[in-house]
This record gives sequence, structure tokens and C-alpha cells, in this order.
Amino acid sequence: MDKAQQDALKKAAGIEAAKLVTDGMIAGLGTGSTVRFLVDELGRRVKEEGLQFTGVTTSRRTQEQAESYGIKIVDIDDVDHIDVTIDGADEVDKNFNGIKGGGAALLWEKIVATNSNQIVWIVDESKVVDTIGKFPLPVEVIPFGAGHVIKKFEAKGYKPVLRLDAEGKPVRTDENNYVVDLHLERIDHPQDLAEDLITTVGVVEHGLFLNMVDKVIVGDPNGPRVMTNGNK
Ligand code: 5RP
Repeated sequence: MDKAQQDALKKAAGIEAAKLVTDGMIAGLGTGSTVRFLVDELGRRVKEEGLQFTGVTTSRRTQEQAESYGIKIVDIDDVDHIDVTIDGADEVDKNFNGIKGGGAALLWEKIVATNSNQIVWIVDESKVVDTIGKFPLPVEVIPFGAGHVIKKFEAKGYKPVLRLDAEGKPVRTDENNYVVDLHLERIDHPQDLAEDLITTVGVVEHGLFLNMVDKVIVGDPNGPRVMTNGNK
């Protein structure tokens, strides 16, 4: 699939998911190129249809885009609930285990997701996999002592790589932390790995989102299709 085809599928999934946002809702807005299409569509509905909703964003980037459309964005601590959060994902398997954080927003994404009544992911069909792990697993790490965390990951065979920007400097998250990508190729025991990562001192959060999502809207050449998680 070339990029133009992939973008068309992402856009179709984003437009479909925008229908889930209705007047008066508090909606969590994710991060990434698929979510950009979602926010474009929500912006169009605000302008053309008078849609009124309040957003909680998972990154400053999404906040800027949403506000450019006049969408009202509030701090997560200023709302007592989030009706639905719509976000992208890097991979998802048939057990609804996924990897997120390709856009370095995994920490805020997990906080927003955890406080949402419903979680929906929008992906193109290439993200639906048999076994997660081909996509390098992002881990958000405190900069102080990050070298030691990386050495521990190396000793465990996790093949860690500190994520760098175009200038060769460490990428910083919205919380000013580093991202270390684990090149695992496949993750057969995601729960065990999640436990190991989150109990490593210096790790803030990891990009394993295990059985958290309620619904995945998949951009498919035949039209968006929905995978519903019956085990939540
Ligand atoms: C950002 C994320 C994104 O949702 C994920 O990387 C998917 O991005 P895209 O829609 O650009 O493929 O987790 O941290």
C-alpha cells in the first residue's frame, strides 16, 4: 500500500469515527496523522453543522489543531468524565492488544484513555496484525538516568533505541521525557512485558495498551469496518 492509499484509508476511518461525537459530549482527541483527519472532520462539523462539544486532547499538537477550528479544549482535570476518546494506534491484534506511542504521546494518551467511558481507535488496515511487536514498542523514560534504563533493557534483550529528532537530539514528550523504542519484532507475552516495564525505575509509561479499546474502526478499501471488543 502506498502512502496516498494509506492516507485515504486513515481519512475514511477518521470521518467515520467523527460521527460518534454529538452535541454536549466531552470527547478525548488522540494524536497522529489519522487523528488529524478526525479533527479536520470535527472542525468541519463545528463550522458547517454547528456541532458543540468539549475536547480533551492527548498532545499539544492536537490541541493546536482543534483550537484552530474553534473547538473548545479543556484541561483533563477540569472535567469529571470523558464520554468517548478517539485515537490512532500503531498496531492492534485480534485480542484488542495494541501498541501506541509512535507519535510520542503515549503517556497523555494512556491517561486520557484510562479516564474515558469508551475508547475507539481509528487505523488503516495495515495496523491490524496477528502478533504485536513488529512496530518498535515506545517506552517513556525520565531523562535522569535514562542511560542506565537503556542498559537494563539491553541486558534483557529488548533492543532499545533512544528516539532522536531530525537534528540528532533526543525527542522530548509533552512531559519533557525521552522515548526509548524497543525493537522486539514480536511480543508473545504482552502482560508480562507490561509488568516488567512499568516496574522498572525511571520508566514513566509504556505503549502497550492491553484490552483497553472498546472498538476499532478500520479503514478498509471496501469501506470502514468496525471490530468490537466483547471481552471488556
Ligand atoms: C501517537 C500515537 C498514534 O496514535 C499512533 O502512532 C498512530 O499514528 P498515525 O495515525 O500517524 O499512524 O500513538 O503517540
